[in-house]
Amino acid sequence: MSTSAAPNSLTWLANGFLAIKPLAALAKNRARTMMIERAESIGVYWRDEVQRLKARAGESPFSEQWSHDLADLQNADLSYPDYYVTSFHAYEEGNLGWQPAMEVEVAAKAVHARIWPEAGAQGDAQLRQSYHDVLKANLATAPTNIVDLGCGVGMSSETLQGTFPDAQLTGVDLSPYFLAVAQYRQQQSVRATAATVSAPTSSPTIHWYHAAAEATGLPQGQFDLVSACLMFHELPQVAAIAILQEARRLLQPGGHLAIMDMNPNCETFAKMPPFVLTLLKSTEPYLDEYFSLDIADACRTAGFAPPTVVTNSPRHRTLIAAAI
Ligand SMILES: C[S@@+](CC[C@H](N)C(=O)[O-])C[C@H]1O[C@@H](n2cnc3c(N)ncnc32)[C@H](O)[C@@H]1O
Repeated sequence: MSTSAAPNSLTWLANGFLAIKPLAALAKNRARTMMIERAESIGVYWRDEVQRLKARAGESPFSEQWSHDLADLQNADLSYPDYYVTSFHAYEEGNLGWQPAMEVEVAAKAVHARIWPEAGAQGDAQLRQSYHDVLKANLATAPTNIVDLGCGVGMSSETLQGTFPDAQLTGVDLSPYFLAVAQYRQQQSVRATAATVSAPTSSPTIHWYHAAAEATGLPQGQFDLVSACLMFHELPQVAAIAILQEARRLLQPGGHLAIMDMNPNCETFAKMPPFVLTLLKSTEPYLDEYFSLDIADACRTAGFAPPTVVTNSPRHRTLIAAAI
């Protein structure tokens, strides 16, 4: 499958616009305002939900427990790759701060609400379900040891756990802030299940791990599924290629790599109005590199069998490749 997208005059214009700092700042602010308005219009009460998360049901607007959890999860020896220490999603601090961490879930619901017009706030859950439907249809046996690369605040890990309840999950992310939220969300979910179901869930506890996906430090051949959900569009090509090699190292032979992300070949992007494309690029610094990467070819070079590619939403595709 070819994913190459030759730069055209529209791309050139959009990039020129973003190179002018005040215009770029304007585009980012506009994108953020649009997202909050969209979320609240579909019943995702962005500001209230973020405030509840910050306070963790305590008196103080920002619970002190967050700083303790951050210190516990953070790998102080980790050096961040340069490409990661930049602005993402209209946050100056990128993924390395409390505000982006607290807003990941509401932002995902807002962004994914328009994939299927009738889904609204359920669009995010439907997207993840569509990914897992493809996974189940393409894996002969249920995986038992899964690593979720770029796990964010754990939304992808949690849904993988729901699909494969007996599997041991490890979530890897470069943002310790996101991992702190992931851990808290999981604790809350376990508590909620225990309070409503007579027999508490027996799924193993997810391990949250602060590392770069291209050099996880996890043991070779430990996993039978490496999943990367919505991470690759955030990567420059050099990192994407290094992560494919690390995924191959982590997998047992016959294990699978699964990547679900934006589909560069879909009509939505081809027909996107220049203004919207400009806003999107202002929040996703490596989108051009992602769109022009031949990911199927990069998988083969990294030691995978030719991948199966399935369209799982009007804007997303899932790629599944077996480790040779
Ligand atoms: C759009 S989020 C997706 C999060 C999650 N998988 C989901 O589906 O909700 C992309 C995540 O990838 C992480 N990430 C980006 N580059 C990374 C890298 N090189 N190593 C580990 N995590 C990375 C970011 O910190 C962020 O949490």
